[in-house]
Amino acid sequence: MPTVIAVANQKGGAGKTTISVNLAAGLAEAGYKVLLVDADPQTSALKWRNHSEENQLGFDVIALPSQLLNRDIPSLGAPYEVAVIDCPPGGTPGGSKTDTRDNITRSAMLAANLVLIPVQPSIVDFDAAATMIPLLRQSAVANPKLQARLVINRKAPARTRLGDQARAGAAEYFEGLAVLETEICHRQAFAESPSVGRAILSYDARSKGSDEIRRLTQEVIECLSTENAAASSE
Ligand SMILES: Nc1ncnc2c1ncn2[C@@H]1O[C@H](COP(=O)(O)OP(=O)(O)OP(=O)(O)O)[C@@H](O)[C@H]1O
Ligand SMILES: [Mg+2]
Repeated sequence: MPTVIAVANQKGGAGKTTISVNLAAGLAEAGYKVLLVDADPQTSALKWRNHSEENQLGFDVIALPSQLLNRDIPSLGAPYEVAVIDCPPGGTPGGSKTDTRDNITRSAMLAANLVLIPVQPSIVDFDAAATMIPLLRQSAVANPKLQARLVINRKAPARTRLGDQARAGAAEYFEGLAVLETEICHRQAFAESPSVGRAILSYDARSKGSDEIRRLTQEVIECLSTENAAASSE
């Protein structure tokens, strides 16, 4: 059964698809056999892959907007080591049992070893992301193996007061939720690369954005290996 990473935030446009596709590419570059599960009915990740005739991403993408991802992913039976789930936006603040998008995100978090929550460093975005914290907490009760990390996305590349305080501000706002050290900056290459069906690692391998994705990938691998070490010592 693959290790599962869900990328979730009810806030639209926070960077779920950008982080999902680029993290999946980072994991593939690191040697893992990766499946990207596009759980968003908008199928943004699948469309990204389809902007090139040949798959240029280095991993497979399937559209699976299922409300039972925790059942469906283990039963895929395919030889993937890691599945990254790109979750949909929307849903009901706090999470509802009758909302399709909430049910998709909930089932992704029930399937996951790690949930990454991309947030842009502004109070407006923190407020919008906070609506899914109850959904995360409920899922963590039902899925005790679930780890959660915020990841700062679209930080201004030039130094600004808001940027300098992004991680500390997020840690303070989302008390008790860890923030990854790696921050992803706002970079043109992240916005351009989908149009040619590529992740940033192949679009501009030596760019600062690619360095950020490689660092993000290593940090995610470390999170997951800590979990494995804890499980094997129990
Ligand atoms: N770090 C970044 N630098 C530049 N552009 C970015 C970055 N992250 C995201 N974007 C751009 O912001 C827009 C929204 O990003 P993305 O589609 O990844 O968000 P999302 O959370 O998946 O959105 P949705 O909620 O609609 O699924 C896209 O145009 C994307 O290219
Ligand atoms: Mg998306």
